Amino acid sequence: MNCKGCIFDLDGVIVDTAKYHYLAWKRLASEMGFDFTEKDNERLKGVSRMRSLDILLEVGGKTVPEDKKEALAAKKNNWYVEYISKMDKSEILPGVENFFKTLKANNIKIALGSASKNSMLILNNLGLTDYFDAIIDGNKVSKAKPDPEVFTLAAKEMNLSPSECVVFEDAQAGIEAAKAGNMKVIAVGSEENLKDFDKIIPGFEGVGLDLISF
Ligand code: BG6
Ligand code: MG
Repeated sequence: MNCKGCIFDLDGVIVDTAKYHYLAWKRLASEMGFDFTEKDNERLKGVSRMRSLDILLEVGGKTVPEDKKEALAAKKNNWYVEYISKMDKSEILPGVENFFKTLKANNIKIALGSASKNSMLILNNLGLTDYFDAIIDGNKVSKAKPDPEVFTLAAKEMNLSPSECVVFEDAQAGIEAAKAGNMKVIAVGSEENLKDFDKIIPGFEGVGLDLISF
């Protein structure tokens, strides 16, 4: 396979925002009178905002009418945005920007494929926006991962076919989405939590072009 484009998930691949999602969800849980642990937070990785709220409510054993959910999610998001607004370049995960430079130097396109609706704020704060040939995020898709929509749209916007793209993902739902879209997928994380990938790396430190040769 000749890789012509790399599609990156954002949260957990380019930057560790899980800690900020956690702080914001925990704050909401505490306001509603229950505890939300870091282990519970693992269940939210790669999951959409509204689905995350449902999981949080399930953890707390709370039932909330559908028409009240938007307001709760908005409250959490305001806190989350407050935290991520303070982020800067120093929070880019090790090796990511170097790998982007290697890809650019070799004419390999770069796209974002993320569920987040805050991706532009994050990429701008990290100073990474200009590397991207396509940015597909939670504002542009109607179906959440494991549906392949986010990745197929990213390939389309890069004018590439799925078989020319490699996806980088830290969440199982994202790995499944890439496979469903007929793309190679490189998992970022540990084999303890992830399966069905083509390759796995612990992170981007020391990573070179040979990683995307299959
Ligand atoms: C994913 C995160 O990338 O984006 C999830 O892994 C998060 O934890 C989802 O819920 C939606 O993000 P946001 O920023 O739109 O609330
Ligand atoms: Mg992720």
